[in-house]
Amino acid sequence: MAATQSADVETLVKTGAGYIWACASCHGDKGQGMETTPRLAGLPAAYIAKQLHDFQQGTRFNDSMAYVAKALSEEQIQALAAHYAVMRAPSTARPSLKGDLARGEQIAREGDWSIGVPACFTCHGPSGFGVAPDFPALAAQHPAYTARQLAMWAGGSRHNSPLGLMAGIGKALNDVDRRAVADYLASLAPVPATPKTELAAIDASIPVSEGDAQ
Ligand code: HEC
Ligand code: HEC
Repeated sequence: MAATQSADVETLVKTGAGYIWACASCHGDKGQGMETTPRLAGLPAAYIAKQLHDFQQGTRFNDSMAYVAKALSEEQIQALAAHYAVMRAPSTARPSLKGDLARGEQIAREGDWSIGVPACFTCHGPSGFGVAPDFPALAAQHPAYTARQLAMWAGGSRHNSPLGLMAGIGKALNDVDRRAVADYLASLAPVPATPKTELAAIDASIPVSEGDAQ
């Protein structure tokens, strides 16, 4: 059973099927992403599944992803989410928006109460590696993508964060600060390799089969 399912996921990722375009054709062979296409490797499985549902339902809008997500079954969503959550890839993100890295670090670690912005790391983990199930990793994400998401929340075309948390933060940061924090986050190391068994202990949606323990 498990073997058949993982073979299906490999096909979806690498070759695609019908309206489901190959994920790797945009997100890269290792889920590393590029520019405004996000890195998926190492995001919490539940977060990935939520985003695919949000694209299906339109609380998050992107033409390509709406098209792909609407063609996915619930089983495929769960299998793809688990696939990317355990994937590890070196970072290909580099600061590229001419952001002030010191300012970006300040926003990420301490926040800036003068503009009502809390430290990003209070929710996204002390190293930006994310906290399953709800908070995605920000470390090693592509800066053009990160800055764009903050702008999309501010503008309302992404309106899917619980309690509107990220909409408030996106609005409070001006363009210069969005570029600063996005570039700083891109300079960080990616989520480190962790045995699947340990990941499963913090993220219940990750399946563990025999042989994953080492
Ligand atoms: C045609 C290119 C393309 C294809 C094919 C594609 N994606 Fe995407 N994907 C994108 C872009 C661009 C975004 C960013 C959308 C935005 O700006 O909100 C994205 C966003 C996402 C996100 C949100 C990630 C995050 O950090 O919030 C997930 C999850 C995702 N894609 C999964 C998939 C999966 C799984 C597949 C294959 C079934 C796939 N994508 C196929 C282009 C693509
Ligand atoms: C109070 C908690 C909280 C704080 C503080 C916070 N975030 Fe978030 N953030 C979230 C949640 C929850 C999500 C997931 C939203 C969703 O489900 O789509 C998120 C998602 C994101 C995403 C989307 C990632 C992706 O892969 O698409 C970005 C970018 C982001 N946050 C940046 C930031 C930055 C930059 C800061 C600091 C200025 C910050 N966040 C502070 C809770 C928080």
